[in-house]
Formats: sequence, structure tokens, C-alpha cells
Amino acid sequence: MFPKINIAIDGYSSCGKGTLAKQLAQHFEYVFIDSGSMYRAVTLYLLNHQVDVELNEAVHPLLEQIELDFKYNSINKRYEIHLNGENVEPFIRDLKVSSKVSMVAKNSDVRRKLVEMQKKMGISKGVVMDGRDIGTVVFPDAELKIFMTASVEVRAQRRFDEMNKMGEAVIYEDILQNLTQRDFIDSSRDDSPLTLTNDYRVLDNSKLSQAEQFEIAKTWVEEIVLIEGKP
Ligand code: CDP
Repeated sequence: MFPKINIAIDGYSSCGKGTLAKQLAQHFEYVFIDSGSMYRAVTLYLLNHQVDVELNEAVHPLLEQIELDFKYNSINKRYEIHLNGENVEPFIRDLKVSSKVSMVAKNSDVRRKLVEMQKKMGISKGVVMDGRDIGTVVFPDAELKIFMTASVEVRAQRRFDEMNKMGEAVIYEDILQNLTQRDFIDSSRDDSPLTLTNDYRVLDNSKLSQAEQFEIAKTWVEEIVLIEGKP
């Protein structure tokens, strides 16, 4: 039996972090946690309560009303986010939430609350978590840190196709603009910005299929697990 490790996957918006995380989790029987879904669920709650998400005086008092949970969905074979008991997976990825989530994620009170929960999820190892600050803040000791990237046009096209498939009427330019704006806010914010440090392995998947990116990452995990397992 090989020891379990934690895998941190960080990178720009919509570059396939979730897809890779899911592939690795299924293959190694790890737990996959999408940390972005937590920021999205908080954003949904604030928008539903007509709060100006840029005003901490407005956001802060509502945070204690927010309870987040992940529950396993055996049909989709993944953990899904529940906001105050309700499964909000179907609502958190629409453009209304996407257009505000990076402003919410700049808020240090929000980050403190979510990072505390995320750290607890990794205590027993065997977790693949994707986000922006997983390798730098949430699991600074993760045995494997992957930084994913792809050109912004490729990312926008993928997100466009994904939303189209779900039957949502979206405009490619709106998605491109949203990704560019979120990349900028996520990389330049004061609290836990998306940062490529030299302990990450970089995976540019602009020209890789899902199978090819998985092969690369799987080899990295196997390499590390073998080293960790040596007496
Ligand atoms: O799916 P996509 O890559 O577009 O984004 P996401 O992972 O769902 O994250 C949504 C937003 O949450 C990001 O643009 C960040 O602003 C924020 N986020 C963050 O600040 N820290 C994380 N660990 C994860 C997400």
C-alpha cells in the first residue's frame, strides 16, 4: 500500500484544473475538492441577499450565516457543494456569479473562513484540491504542486463549449472578457494571489488532450509516491 499524498493544482481560470483533479482522484482513489466552488457558493449567497460584494461592512456580517458542506454524489462520483443544506452546484457557474466571484475572493475575511475549512480537509492526506492558493497557502506542504495554464483563447473556447453543451446562451466575447478580468484580479490581489513559485511543476495544456495531460500528471504522482514510500 503506497502512502497517500496531497496534490495541489493551481492556475488560471478555466484551464482544466477541475478535469485533471477529477481524473487523478478517480485513478488514485483520492478525494477531489474544488475550492473555487466554495468562493462561488459564498458569492451566490451574497448576490441572493443583494449585497454589494465590494463592501466588507456589508459582506462581513453575512459570513456567519453561511454554512458550506461537500456531499458525495454517487451518480456523478464527486463531492458537491451545499450552501446551508442546499445543493448549489447547478447555480454557481453562471456568468452572474463568475462576474463577481473574484471580487469576493479578494476579501480576507472570506478567505480566512474558507482556507480554514480547506486545511482541515487535507489533514488525512489523499486529497486533490484545485484553486489559486492551494500550493501556496492551503497545503504549502503538498507533496505535488501543479500549476496549470493554457492560452486565454483556448480557455475561453473550452468554457464556451462547456456552457453551450449545458444549454446556456452565452457569448464567446463575454466569457473571454470574464476570464481575462478574473486572471488579472486573482494574480494581483493582496491576499494570497495566484503565484507561480519554483516548487510547482508547470503543465501547459493548450495543445494537450485530456488523456495526454492525465498521463503526465499521473507519472508525476507515481514518481513522488514511490519516493515517499521508500523506507
Ligand atoms: O472554474 P474556474 O477556473 O473558472 O474558476 P474557479 O476555480 O471556480 O474559481 C472561481 C474564482 O474563485 C476564481 O476566479 C478566484 O477568484 C476564486 N478562487 C480563489 O480565490 N482561490 C481559490 N483557491 C479558488 C478560487
